[in-house]
Amino acid sequence: MDVLQMMAQAVIFILPSYFANSIPVLLGGGAAIDGGRKFSDGNRLFGDGKTIRGFFAGIFAALLVGSIQAVFLPGTAWDIYGGNPHTYVYAGLLLGTGTMIGDLAGSFIKRRQGVARGKQSVILDQLTFLFVALAFAYPIASRMITIEAVVFLFILTYFAHVAANVLAHKWGLKKVPW
Ligand code: CTP
Ligand code: MG
Repeated sequence: MDVLQMMAQAVIFILPSYFANSIPVLLGGGAAIDGGRKFSDGNRLFGDGKTIRGFFAGIFAALLVGSIQAVFLPGTAWDIYGGNPHTYVYAGLLLGTGTMIGDLAGSFIKRRQGVARGKQSVILDQLTFLFVALAFAYPIASRMITIEAVVFLFILTYFAHVAANVLAHKWGLKKVPW
């Protein structure tokens, strides 16, 4: 398989996760998942940036992307799951759930390190969600999760996340550019 094809397939594979990670900025808000509770260190468990609505909006967005892929990709040159539409839907659900749990885990670690909600944390902000999303998807998409694809996705995700947040800030969707 040539490199460009590997990259294209990796992007198609990870698309539900990217949507899950960005939709909460638009649709999130309301009650915090931790309900205001604090950890033993006195800091919030996750903080006000992690809301119930954002969590489920993210999972739903990934499921929707997977479902759209299921309709359009099987049997085409862009098909990554051997023509099986169900796999796209399951992969969307698993990637979305992993993404949002990984996002929570990132915030949990940030709060333990004393980093305030919304303050930048390189690696935790950009890559924790990807790591957990890949772990969740592994049972049904191990064929997509090769060493080359994982290395490519970590590099791509780092830069895509930085670029997306700078744009979201510019367009007034986020208060800070990260
Ligand atoms: N968001 C949400 N619910 C989630 C995740 C995100 O409502 N489960 C929304 C919040 O409005 C949040 C925004 O998306 O402020 C950006 O997400 P993120 O950068 O992950 O959160 P931060 O506010 O930066 O908080 P943290 O420091 O915990 O990362
Ligand atoms: Mg943030």
